[in-house]
Amino acid sequence: MWVIQAKGLKAFYILHILGHTKIVKAVNEVDLEVLENEIYGIAGESGCGKSTLLKALLGVTIAPLRLISGQVLYRKDGEELDVYALKPEELRKLRWTFIAYVPQGSMSVLNPVRRLSRTLEDFLASHEGLKGRRQLMARAKDYFHELGLPPKILKAYPHQLSGGMRQRVTIALATLLAPKILIADEPTTALDVVVQRGVLQMLTDIHRKLANTLVLVTHDMGVHANVSRRLGIMYAGKLVEEGEVSELFTAPLHPYTRFLIKSLPKLGDKGSREGVPGMPPSLSELPSGCAFHPRCPLALPICREKEPLLSKEKPGHRVRCWLYLREGP
Ligand SMILES: Nc1ncnc2c1ncn2[C@@H]1O[C@H](COP(=O)(O)OP(=O)(O)O)[C@@H](O)[C@H]1O
Ligand SMILES: [Mg+2]
Repeated sequence: MWVIQAKGLKAFYILHILGHTKIVKAVNEVDLEVLENEIYGIAGESGCGKSTLLKALLGVTIAPLRLISGQVLYRKDGEELDVYALKPEELRKLRWTFIAYVPQGSMSVLNPVRRLSRTLEDFLASHEGLKGRRQLMARAKDYFHELGLPPKILKAYPHQLSGGMRQRVTIALATLLAPKILIADEPTTALDVVVQRGVLQMLTDIHRKLANTLVLVTHDMGVHANVSRRLGIMYAGKLVEEGEVSELFTAPLHPYTRFLIKSLPKLGDKGSREGVPGMPPSLSELPSGCAFHPRCPLALPICREKEPLLSKEKPGHRVRCWLYLREGP
């Protein structure tokens, strides 16, 4: 059963620069379903629209980002909520209790001049619906303890903590009110490998403890291989492939997915790994046809002309590529 459903979702940045209008097509016709209690990964190189997709799924399209078309639904207590039809205050009530969000780079947004305990108090105070602040504060301390965060860090200022610890505190704060869905954007980027492992362990512990849904966004395919259950691959604002992680890694269909997997370091591999050649296109000047065709080793003439649809190749496995479309050229 899905908990988030996006249908034909389009969200563009509309920029006015020196009398010109520039349109950045960051989320372009995305259809997806995130299921109850799963770890859904979103991958793709930097600049493919992952973070913008999350904003669109959260209903936070603030200028210059604009919802162009499509729909986002949440399923909450058996009821379908149309996110863009909710009043701002209804949407705000869902935040942290139903859906929580750890933005990209959030470990650096903890208030630097406040001890963490003050940040925690402010956080709890901002939820006027919450009763018994003292009790909640005690529960928060227990929760931190359960997650293996030493209670004394609450007395610390953010700069006194390591990056990994700050990231763990941010995730702990975001999940304090036991949200049904946690969305984490590049939670391990910029951390070293050992510290990354701790952060991922904490995310999966929380996922298990709260029996909730985790949407994990990272460009790091190694993280998805270890943590995600299903994976959506984004390229130029679109989902180009989606399936079970086990299947995507053993039998990837889209040439872009194959590139991403090939660029992973292999065990015992001392040589430099093969990166994905070239760069993703500018989302304000997309190539014709399939946006991947200029980098694709298998491009057919039609790839330059017409955009392929996201088709169901097998049950639970979708791909957007002319190589697999029956009604081809
Ligand atoms: N606030 C913004 N204003 C204009 N363009 C933006 C803004 N934020 C992101 N973009 C553009 O949207 C595109 C997608 O960015 P993003 O969603 O951050 O991708 P990713 O998370 O995959 O790296 C990029 O071309 C980026 O430059
Ligand atoms: Mg991003």
